[in-house]
Amino acid sequence: MKRIPLIIDTDPGIDDAVAIALALYSDDIDVRLITTVSGNVGIEATTTNALKLLAYFGKDVPVARGASEPLIRAAQDASDIHGATGMEGFDFPEPKRELLMERNAIDAMRDVLMKSEEPITIMPIGPLTNIALLLKAYPEVKARIERIVLMGGSVTRGNKGVMAEFNIYVDPEAAKIVLASGVPIVMATLDAGLGTAIPPEKTAQLKDMGKVGLMAHDLFQRYRKRSFGTGLKMYDACAVACLLKPDLFDMADAFVDVETAGELTAGCTVVDLKGYLKREPNATVTTGVDSDRFCDWFMEGIGHCA
Ligand code: BDR
Ligand code: CA
Repeated sequence: MKRIPLIIDTDPGIDDAVAIALALYSDDIDVRLITTVSGNVGIEATTTNALKLLAYFGKDVPVARGASEPLIRAAQDASDIHGATGMEGFDFPEPKRELLMERNAIDAMRDVLMKSEEPITIMPIGPLTNIALLLKAYPEVKARIERIVLMGGSVTRGNKGVMAEFNIYVDPEAAKIVLASGVPIVMATLDAGLGTAIPPEKTAQLKDMGKVGLMAHDLFQRYRKRSFGTGLKMYDACAVACLLKPDLFDMADAFVDVETAGELTAGCTVVDLKGYLKREPNATVTTGVDSDRFCDWFMEGIGHCA
């Protein structure tokens, strides 16, 4: 398999840390750029965290700082869950600041896309602010994007609002722009993520599975103590699995839009699986996952991160 050239747009965050590791250590992925966005925590923290992760992994990938707030709405984070910095409780080395580019995320993505000889996949695993800005500021990049494989949205329920998944909830207007862009999109949804619970007996093994396993074990133990004992869900890792092992998922092509005006439902993705709206599909949506096979894939992937 030819290595997939990839840009990761991220808000690390512990789910993100694991997904970034799986992508960076994969023999089948070539990570060209990491861009940061405010989401789980603010932009300074997500950027510092990306640089800390690269120092810990010993990988040199350029990092570009992105948006500090959503397009229109006030910034919101998940520091109630993730703590002020998003990745406390693990002894990371100093952030590798020399990897931080002068250029902002939007210009850095444009450069990587326009200079590449082959189309590049973008994997957003945070709010879609940077990607919407990129597509609006530089529409010429659309032809250079192989596809956007994102973690976000849901077919059924939410994890932030009743109906809204966190990444879309934070910046629904950005998600709407991305979904309407015409670029091929794969959505690793909350519905799939909910089926990825890694059982406690496997989670316990992580700490003896090399540096990435140890990191995942310690971070999740701190931040997800409850699900540590019941099953840890790996939301952002689903986007990596969609790239490398799409047959783990049930998928359907559908028209997807985002509710931006709803009093109770802002940030909800409306996934028209039955064609009620009579619109052409604009995304391939995961509707479920083979939990056992995902768990095997995940453990094998972490084992490979050495
Ligand atoms: C998403 O929200 C964030 O908290 C996680 O990092 C993931 O990207 C799951 O809804
Ligand atoms: Ca994330």
